[in-house]
Amino acid sequence: MDWLKEIYIDHGAVEGINGLLMACSKDLAKGEESARLDDVLELAHAFTELCHHAKEEKVLFPVLRSQSDIQVCRLLNEHDLGKKLIRKIKEGEKDEKIRNIVTYDALLKAHIGKENRFFKECGQKLASAEQRALSEGFARIDADTLGPGGMDSILGRITGLKAGMGR
Ligand SMILES: [Fe+2]
Ligand SMILES: [Fe+2]
Repeated sequence: MDWLKEIYIDHGAVEGINGLLMACSKDLAKGEESARLDDVLELAHAFTELCHHAKEEKVLFPVLRSQSDIQVCRLLNEHDLGKKLIRKIKEGEKDEKIRNIVTYDALLKAHIGKENRFFKECGQKLASAEQRALSEGFARIDADTLGPGGMDSILGRITGLKAGMGR
């Protein structure tokens, strides 16, 4: 698959997971236990961090550094910030969980918008051999991190969790 198309699909899944986190934060704000929060956090770790961010950090960013090192550094810092927020969501008390979910959602929305523009602009300058190498690198990370169900299993889990929340 075209590497940029794959990034767009990944970003859609990340936004789906963040939508689930926001739904959990609303349950918490209403004083309801959010039984699904642990499952959603596990999915955010398994997909957003281990799969999607690995594609960017190990395969894509090293290639894009020659086009804008400073932009790659900014994006990496945002990945780190996201990881710290996820830890705070896991470990924090209720109000802290709610606040950090909202911050995490806003951070990743802005991050994804920035990346979509940056990657599209950079992609136009890459040779076709480099583009092919990106697709191959992404496929390797999918195989290593997602298991036999691949992306379909991630999308299925998002849909299942959404249905389980009644939203
Ligand atoms: Fe990213
Ligand atoms: Fe991304």
